[in-house]
Amino acid sequence: MSKRVLLVDDDFNITQGFKRVVHGLPSEWKFQFVGSGLEALRLMDEQPFDVIVSDMRMPGMNGAELLQIVMGKFPQVVRIIFSGYSDPAMVLRSIRPAHRFLAKPCATENVIAAISQTLDALDLVPDENLKKMAAGISDLPVSNYVYENLLRELEIYDSSLKKVGHLINRDIAIFALSLKLVSSEFLGLPQPIGIIQQVFERIGLESIKKIVLDKNVLFMEENMALPEKFPLEVINKHSVSVAQLAAEIAGRAGADGDERTAAAIGGMLHDIGKIVLFGFPGLYQRITNYVAVQQCDLCEAERQILGTTHAELGACLLGLWGLPGNIVRAVAHHHCAPKKTANSLAGTAIQRAELLAETNNNLPLDGELLKLLDPKWFDLDRIVT
Ligand SMILES: [Fe+2]
Ligand SMILES: [Fe+2]
Repeated sequence: MSKRVLLVDDDFNITQGFKRVVHGLPSEWKFQFVGSGLEALRLMDEQPFDVIVSDMRMPGMNGAELLQIVMGKFPQVVRIIFSGYSDPAMVLRSIRPAHRFLAKPCATENVIAAISQTLDALDLVPDENLKKMAAGISDLPVSNYVYENLLRELEIYDSSLKKVGHLINRDIAIFALSLKLVSSEFLGLPQPIGIIQQVFERIGLESIKKIVLDKNVLFMEENMALPEKFPLEVINKHSVSVAQLAAEIAGRAGADGDERTAAAIGGMLHDIGKIVLFGFPGLYQRITNYVAVQQCDLCEAERQILGTTHAELGACLLGLWGLPGNIVRAVAHHHCAPKKTANSLAGTAIQRAELLAETNNNLPLDGELLKLLDPKWFDLDRIVT
């Protein structure tokens, strides 16, 4: 299947550089080049593209404005922006419409690698409608409670990064968005993601403030059209519990630092696909009705209605946002790994943490309580019944 990529840049030298590199790519890569947003939109009206890569600074329509239009008209198209950091306000405006941000100067090979990763992420879901659904997501609901407390903490003179990080760690949407910013170079931060606390230290209070205060970046749950019985708080609480337990289980199973981080971050984000589904109230209702009528589990109902589950859908979104592959895989496989594929240690730890969290009503388990748990929970070779 060919990969159709549209590159938009008014800088002749940049497009020439790309032309030289893409000339040597396998024939399934089809690139087209234009020099402005208007030309890009005209071409997209005439023929389909899988990916648009746009420069930010261009005369007339800038890259953020172009991607905003593309997001509305062609939601299935992967949107990548590349720019310098000279105008932070403009960078901020691209957070919503762009899946990924690449910092200039950026080697052409890195742009190709980013395009490949995003297309691989889209392949996690089976059909065009789901690809459109995942790629079209730009907003996730942030819990009112977290949002209001964040605002309060950020408004005080000596806001504490620790308290801010603690609040962000309680909400899947803002946690995921923070990782999107770190993974995708939006803020010019060094990769890869280290331990979770460091993510917020790297973003820094000033950038967090800008993101939280910008009305175009975060959306509170009360401002979004969500299903009536929308259990955001329940999922947030469950996710915090799974993250804590998955990191503990992976640690006790001998995971190294990277795998433990993947277990913790994957644990926090494992059900992000459920939040994506909440954004489609009709679909969400059909799935919950199916569960009620057929008395089956959620994944079975999702497979019947969507042809996939919230696990793959969530992993697809995280892959589009440029999160590391081990986290994307752990989220994709948190209910089951594909046939003939051994699950990663992080994925297995999240599966086990999911069971354990539900057995304990998603209550936080501190160090003392963890010590009292039956060791069977930490033996990853054993099936827990
Ligand atoms: Fe879960
Ligand atoms: Fe799940």
